[in-house]
Amino acid sequence: MSTPVKKVPIHLQSSQNRLVIRHGKIVNEDGITEDDIYIEDGFIKQIGRNLIIPGGTRTIDARGKYILPGGIDPHTHFEFEFMGSKSVDDFYQGTKAALAGGTTMIIDFAFPKPGESILDCFYNYRQTADDKVCCDYSLHMCLPHWSEQVKREMEILCKDHGINSFKMFMAYNFMLNDAELYSAFEQCQKLGAVAQVHAENGSIIAKNVERLLAKGIVGPEGHELSRPEEVESEAVNRACVIAKQVNVPIYVVRVSSESAANAIAERRSMGQTLFGEVEASSLAVVGNPHDFNLVTSPPIRSNPNTCGQLLQLLSSDVLQVVGSDNCTFNSKQKELGKDNFSKIPNGVNGVEDRMSVVWEKGVHAGVIDPTRFVAITSTNAAKIFNLYPRKGYIGIGSDADIVIWNPTATRIISAKTHHQAVDFNIFEGLECHGVPEYVIVNGRVVVDEGQLKAVQGFGRFIETAVFPPFVYDPAKVEDLKPQRNGNVDEIQDIREIEKIISE
Ligand code: URP
Ligand code: ZN
Ligand code: ZN
Repeated sequence: MSTPVKKVPIHLQSSQNRLVIRHGKIVNEDGITEDDIYIEDGFIKQIGRNLIIPGGTRTIDARGKYILPGGIDPHTHFEFEFMGSKSVDDFYQGTKAALAGGTTMIIDFAFPKPGESILDCFYNYRQTADDKVCCDYSLHMCLPHWSEQVKREMEILCKDHGINSFKMFMAYNFMLNDAELYSAFEQCQKLGAVAQVHAENGSIIAKNVERLLAKGIVGPEGHELSRPEEVESEAVNRACVIAKQVNVPIYVVRVSSESAANAIAERRSMGQTLFGEVEASSLAVVGNPHDFNLVTSPPIRSNPNTCGQLLQLLSSDVLQVVGSDNCTFNSKQKELGKDNFSKIPNGVNGVEDRMSVVWEKGVHAGVIDPTRFVAITSTNAAKIFNLYPRKGYIGIGSDADIVIWNPTATRIISAKTHHQAVDFNIFEGLECHGVPEYVIVNGRVVVDEGQLKAVQGFGRFIETAVFPPFVYDPAKVEDLKPQRNGNVDEIQDIREIEKIISE
């Protein structure tokens, strides 16, 4: 199988490709400034006041609005074949919906089919996604089995194909055992890759499922009953113990309960390098045991305090990232599990609404400020997966992935109006203060005064380098911080800085 042909980015060399945003409040994770931004050829060229701008440049007036780095959703599963179904949002519709909600980059999970080599899986995902994506994307590679071949191919993926993260499962029938996890972590450490874990104790879950079904509990209420919080927190702690043996930093995906987050807090306080991701669904939805459509793993908890607790932990940096774990199956597909809850295809929506939900529950509710909003929806993911400061930052030389956010406008989330393929929305009826009025992706305005104009295939595959400083060498992160004001012609381009750091 040959390496996929790299797409040439679509860059229009005309005044359409020049844009100035005036009078807005620029929000980065480290502060808010009031400056103008000049964009040319897909990246930020100047930031400051009284900029000298070429004639014919389009101006957007952002008075009263926030200018945010485009959201980065590090957890999607587009057109994913899972539990006998295929998720209905494909790379086109999924990334289009992402843009509608203010997310300008996604990182999907390449998931090998049984027996498929992880290299072939990578090529297949590139072939599927490259011509469909409306925004930039990267891939994490899942490791549903362990072997010497997997180990070898991990190295090839890191060295030749821009993959820098791997996901290991501690649940499902493709989970790795502790010894395999140990080996996979060891290889991640050697390569400088980010080791991600889906942390639930799969053996306990399997026994609980058996017991519940035997008792006649076949409905969706069995899902959370089979996966209580301690089954999640035990796995988080075990993953940390294994990671500590080989001194590898880990990233726990989809932390869904206070118990699991507490396990992370304890390990972080012991000095272990460890990151936690929460999903938008766990911040805004209280689990309803009877709702098939809410079934996802680890579960959306029915404890009404969980949403608020997880938000507090994001605010205090016990947890760092909000993803969506967008894995959408229509109601009909969910019915596959009508006689057996363990057969309900797992997954919910979120790629479109993640930003609005976090703003509503976080900023509008007064729990976090706009700078922390930027950190948890964009910058931290960019740092962890080594995209920063090209992504996740508004600075000279960064990609022009920008959202102009109107904090006073409102919208009500509904499946009737969303851009996703899925036929329901778990946030149905939620009123959100804060609307992405303009979304700019690689310098192109794709949401224009609220109108979506996404272009299929406009996105690029972004290669990610190993040894992200934020993960492996936090002291180096400060060196990465780009100049915030000035002109790109007068200062060193960010890409030069990135090169120096990675050498
Ligand atoms: O329920 C979920 N999260 N479905 C997708 C597969 C996974 O575990 O990420
Ligand atoms: Zn998972
Ligand atoms: Zn997932």
